[in-house]
Amino acid sequence: MSDKNFYITTPIYYPSGEPHMGHAYSSIIADIFARFKRLEGFNVMFLTGTDEHGLKMQREAEKKSIDTKRFCDELSEKFKGLSKTLNLSNDDFIRTTEKRHFNAVNEIWEKLLKSEDIYLSKYKGWYSVSDEAYYDEDEIETKSELKYSKVSGSKVEWVEEESYFFKLSKWQKQLLEFYSENPNFILPASRRNEVVEFVKRGLKDLSVSRTSFSWGIPVPNNSKHVIYVWLDALTNYLSALNFPNVNDNKYIKFWPADVHIIGKDILRFHAIYWPAFLMAAKIPTPKRVYGHGWILSDKKKMSKSIGNILDPVEIINNYGIDQLRYYLVKEVSLGNDGNVSLKSLTDCINNDLANNFGNLCQRVFAFVNKNCESKIPHCKEFKDSEKKLSNEIINKLKLLKDLINKQDLNTYIKEVINFSFNTNKYFNDSKPWELKKGNEEKMNSVLYATLNQIRCISILLFPIIPISSEKVLKTLGIDNKDFKIDNIKKINFLKSGTKIKKIDILFKKIENDN
Ligand code: ME8
Ligand code: MG
Repeated sequence: MSDKNFYITTPIYYPSGEPHMGHAYSSIIADIFARFKRLEGFNVMFLTGTDEHGLKMQREAEKKSIDTKRFCDELSEKFKGLSKTLNLSNDDFIRTTEKRHFNAVNEIWEKLLKSEDIYLSKYKGWYSVSDEAYYDEDEIETKSELKYSKVSGSKVEWVEEESYFFKLSKWQKQLLEFYSENPNFILPASRRNEVVEFVKRGLKDLSVSRTSFSWGIPVPNNSKHVIYVWLDALTNYLSALNFPNVNDNKYIKFWPADVHIIGKDILRFHAIYWPAFLMAAKIPTPKRVYGHGWILSDKKKMSKSIGNILDPVEIINNYGIDQLRYYLVKEVSLGNDGNVSLKSLTDCINNDLANNFGNLCQRVFAFVNKNCESKIPHCKEFKDSEKKLSNEIINKLKLLKDLINKQDLNTYIKEVINFSFNTNKYFNDSKPWELKKGNEEKMNSVLYATLNQIRCISILLFPIIPISSEKVLKTLGIDNKDFKIDNIKKINFLKSGTKIKKIDILFKKIENDN
């Protein structure tokens, strides 16, 4: 058992409607990091789940005249289903309606009460049910007599009720110190600056309970109130580690979390409220919050209300899951917003997967099948050109690990696909078909070196396109336990004489009639 632990989370999604591409995006990204860390030999805990309390969920259920819990059960199942469809490697799926979560939230509340960070008063102000967020007067705008949040664009309503408050104002100074001592707590850097500026302008105490509806976790000893859904939801990251049992092995190994992957729309909650709650409750703060950009369609945020949703399940059925996973991380620069379209999806599949990596594997395997009795040839030694080829990857391993540790997926993927491009070029330039007669030893070296590159590239691509990479690695006779970043350094890893089985086409080329 390795002693290196890594804990990564997705947001827990509101199962108020069908899961869409935005949800798929966050989950795929987190899955890629989780898989990479496993290849590096870490014990990984990868968590996703659903956020089921609050007024938004209660109202959606009412609209459909379904019992709220039943509504949550049904939709949460759909999110679980999407996790499977996306081929996520999550270790757990948390639901905030579970008993284990209830216990954790109760404990947090008690701790905040005990540290005197919570007091009873009255809330008067704006609330967005869609965001489950309170907004200040200066964050509101009026459009045709209706009030909207300038921050998110969602509708707000006036709320006036008795409420418990969390003394957020008290934590301003500590938060600013925390950000400056942990410059990588909020990434990307541009988002950190936004948060720091926001906190510098001053923080108001935060309403953390509601009395006007009942769908939530009751406040201990005052069940007229339910706990604010964000205090409830954020705690999921602890519940899944069996908090409040701080002697639990999971808690000991995995808390504090290494990175919470979230969309930029919920940065305020994760980068301000969450560390403040934790500091007040005297619980260590997570190491990082990465706020990615939005997936846009026709230059607008993909959302149900705009109706510009690309359905991930439909795309997966038509093009394949690895194809979607690869496309999303290649096309959209992780920290920024990015437009997606069917046209760029098919271009990406054709250029990078079908014509580049897929073609490399298929032509080399076919060549070996035809000319080497379908066996990995014996290679006496690497000449300079073979050494140069394999060193290109080995010399960049540290860089690649660093890129992943900074969540720079786009540079990572470009580096890796470039290895594939260069290997294709090496294979072409070496002309093994001309070496067959007269220089078989050289041909064997060229093939061995090329197959070795395919092995290394497949390991590096495994986090992104796990199904296809596994197929290729299995074809080369590599066991799952040997899918390891460190094995890339071992240039003699492939066993000569291993039979290369025929594999089906890896990535079908897509006719583009746009
Ligand atoms: O906010 N592009 O849940 P939610 C990219 N329950 N990502 C998108 C996206 C888009 N167009 N649309 C959604 C909640 N997302 C809370 C979270 S966590 C303790 C509680 C992704 O169902 C992105 O990660 O509204 C965003 O932050 C999340 O879905 C919001 O999901
Ligand atoms: Mg939302």
